[in-house]
Amino acid sequence: MVNSKSLIAYYSRKGQNYVGGSIVNLPVGNTEVVATKIQAMTGGDLFEIDTVEAYPKDYTETTNVARNEKRENARPELTAIVDNMDSFDVIYLGYPNWWGTFPMAVFTFLESYDFSGKTIIPFCTHEGSGLGNSERDIKKLCPKANVKTGLGIRGGSVKNADNMLKSWIE
Ligand SMILES: Cc1cc2nc3c(=O)[nH]c(=O)nc-3n(C[C@H](O)[C@H](O)[C@H](O)COP(=O)(O)O)c2cc1C
Repeated sequence: MVNSKSLIAYYSRKGQNYVGGSIVNLPVGNTEVVATKIQAMTGGDLFEIDTVEAYPKDYTETTNVARNEKRENARPELTAIVDNMDSFDVIYLGYPNWWGTFPMAVFTFLESYDFSGKTIIPFCTHEGSGLGNSERDIKKLCPKANVKTGLGIRGGSVKNADNMLKSWIE
């Protein structure tokens, strides 16, 4: 059965972060802000990709943990799964750029399902590196998916991204 509903799956780390040159505290992560806007614009289902083990509150400590996870090609355990993935043909996939690609938790997520024949639309928040290698990494992990060109948004610009998002979605 074809269901036109889309899924907006995202990873986002709230708390201490580095935005536009200073350390700030984000009650809602940058990627989550974008994911919520896409949900409102598309009427899709929202799913948060989250890890069983939390990252440190401290920004710099988190960058160190994340760098080690990337070096070790880790697959952090996730708190929840999408139990009706079969019913989605279009997946908006959101993440921050961590060390040039998405957090390892998103690797875990992408390896947990069969995305054959599905469309994946990436969006990424970052501090200057754009989408980095993330689109290439999605294609590697999901060779049978139709991976669209993604949208990169600077962390400091997410709150004012409505018009950009509207035209991108259209
Ligand atoms: C562990 C870590 C690594 C990061 N690496 C990069 C990077 O390589 N390039 C970049 O432009 N931004 C990098 N950033 C900045 C984030 O991509 C940016 O702050 C993003 O908007 C955070 O999204 P979130 O609030 O949804 O987690 C990094 C941030 C963290 C915490």
